[in-house]
Amino acid sequence: MSLDVQPLPIRNPQIYRDIIAGLQCTPPTIDSKYLYDERGSRLFEEICDLPEYYVTRTELELTRRCAADLAAQLGSRPRLIELGSGSGVKTKVLLRELFDVDAYVPVDISPSALRQCVINVGADLPDLQISPVCADYTADFELPRKGFQGRNVFYYPGSTIGNFLPAQAREFLARLAQLAGPGGNLIIGVDLVKERAILEAAYNDAQGVTAEFNLNLLHRINRECDATFKPDGFRHLAVFDEERERIEMRLISERDQQVFFPTESFSFDEGDHIVTEYSHKFTIDRFIELGEAAGWRTRALWTDERQFFSLWLLEAQP
Ligand code: AVI
Repeated sequence: MSLDVQPLPIRNPQIYRDIIAGLQCTPPTIDSKYLYDERGSRLFEEICDLPEYYVTRTELELTRRCAADLAAQLGSRPRLIELGSGSGVKTKVLLRELFDVDAYVPVDISPSALRQCVINVGADLPDLQISPVCADYTADFELPRKGFQGRNVFYYPGSTIGNFLPAQAREFLARLAQLAGPGGNLIIGVDLVKERAILEAAYNDAQGVTAEFNLNLLHRINRECDATFKPDGFRHLAVFDEERERIEMRLISERDQQVFFPTESFSFDEGDHIVTEYSHKFTIDRFIELGEAAGWRTRALWTDERQFFSLWLLEAQP
């Protein structure tokens, strides 16, 4: 007898494996990078403008305020490599007004965002050399080598470093230090520990945009993994874990329910939750420690008046 084994009609085996492995953990967890499909990315842009989400606004004001100081520290015309550039809308303002660079290397996993970035930035700064790199910057990637002898300056705004687990953050920063090379720099935005009420309001906004952003993940998984999540059977909640100094974004099951995938099923009791994102907040000392453990020395540090956010200029150690 011959068995005719049909391959499963799974659209993206890599995502499928990742999601299943995450849901098998305790508590069930989904990697926050899956929040950013096309709709998720649009919702995130909306989050950045919300009154409660102080992060983007505070960072932009801080960057404008310390720009002259930062430029003086950076010295002559380095190459600016932006990690997770998206469509470059925010950065083109900085490139036009604040940073004087020799070349701009936007790095993004989305080819369409990168194309838009080249169009956006190129229209504003026609003389700037733009060398886009389409890559997942959290994995291994290479920098364009041709025609550049100067200093590398990585730019990693938005406190996205907080979305890594601590060991992953150290590993990632260590890899950047190697890529930057001795004397290379990193400009990084880092969100600071603050009152629980302010943090929780920022991640549980009154208009419910963050809830939409979070629940959109279930729509994406249904679409890409042929799963049967009922998004209205879950609700969004973000809580601040004081001990670990991080916001934990959750999807809480509203009832007892079962979710089916082509090869597995998962049961959720009422009140069970799935973790969908960690957003770590830092103290100044803890971030200095993290940077040093990863091969970076602090050259300069700026914070806003309320001490909500920090912008750092780091230098890779030999
Ligand atoms: C992208 N990242 C830095 C955001 C944050 O604040 O951790 C993602 C986010 N999640 C909910 N709101 C914003």
